[in-house]
Amino acid sequence: MSSFLQGLTSHFAGTGAPLDALPDEIAEALKQELVASKLLRPELLALWNHLGTTLGAAGYVRPSGEAVSLLNLACGPCFEAAVLAAWFGQPGSLTGARNRVRFFGMDLRGQEIEKAERRYAATEAVFQKLAAPLLTETDTRGSSIEFFADDATRLVGYREIPQEFDIIFIRHQNVWNDRPAWRKIFAFALASLKPETGRLVITSYFDREHLIALDTIRSLGGHILTTAPNPNSIPLPQDHPDKSCDRHIAVITQKLALS
Ligand SMILES: C[S@@+](CC[C@H](N)C(=O)[O-])C[C@H]1O[C@@H](n2cnc3c(N)ncnc32)[C@H](O)[C@@H]1O
Repeated sequence: MSSFLQGLTSHFAGTGAPLDALPDEIAEALKQELVASKLLRPELLALWNHLGTTLGAAGYVRPSGEAVSLLNLACGPCFEAAVLAAWFGQPGSLTGARNRVRFFGMDLRGQEIEKAERRYAATEAVFQKLAAPLLTETDTRGSSIEFFADDATRLVGYREIPQEFDIIFIRHQNVWNDRPAWRKIFAFALASLKPETGRLVITSYFDREHLIALDTIRSLGGHILTTAPNPNSIPLPQDHPDKSCDRHIAVITQKLALS
């Protein structure tokens, strides 16, 4: 929990340097408020931890002091925006500077995008209230967070977003629901990765859907670097015995990198 809150606070601090250890009283106040307001859910902590495991197993080395472009595709209400921006913002080495994450959250549904914007703003407000002494006014090295509504299968493209991303993240992909549509979404994701270095990260709610997604991605030329079940996956609140949050995470490249 402490590295998680530390990472989030560093993200909202918006400076190039990682923060020193969070004072216990600030960490405790943040935890209480974030849990009470349901902004910090146990599955987000599990996601934070499992991201490190799977990306590490896939050989991903976080840079230091770089810009990282991140597209959160089909993001829905995007509970994870601050978590992802904070995770990829961490420096790759103990002495390195933080990365500046350009985060774009995209979903088909405008209402979900509005929820995502409100959730992110509410999370930021908690950090501004409770971690104020640690946050600076100088935001020159800070990350940027944008949400927009668009259809990944036929982009309207009215927003200026990068053509290629370092990271594309699809949380709880939904190929079970509509295979042809998700084939197009996966194809768009693979085509929008930076060649060689870009990584697609997907998570799934249930085993069968994960396997179908991986097969679909392979058939599109994606190469699965690693896929791992999440040992701390939290069951869905509804009665779905075989489904749980981020039950599997896979890391994928556009094509097999030549060594
Ligand atoms: C299972 S939900 C997952 C939402 C979110 N990532 C999460 O983990 O809560 C799948 C999402 O895909 C979005 N979606 C479906 N088709 C899409 C498309 N063509 N372009 C963009 N988003 C799409 C839906 O609106 C929905 O929010």
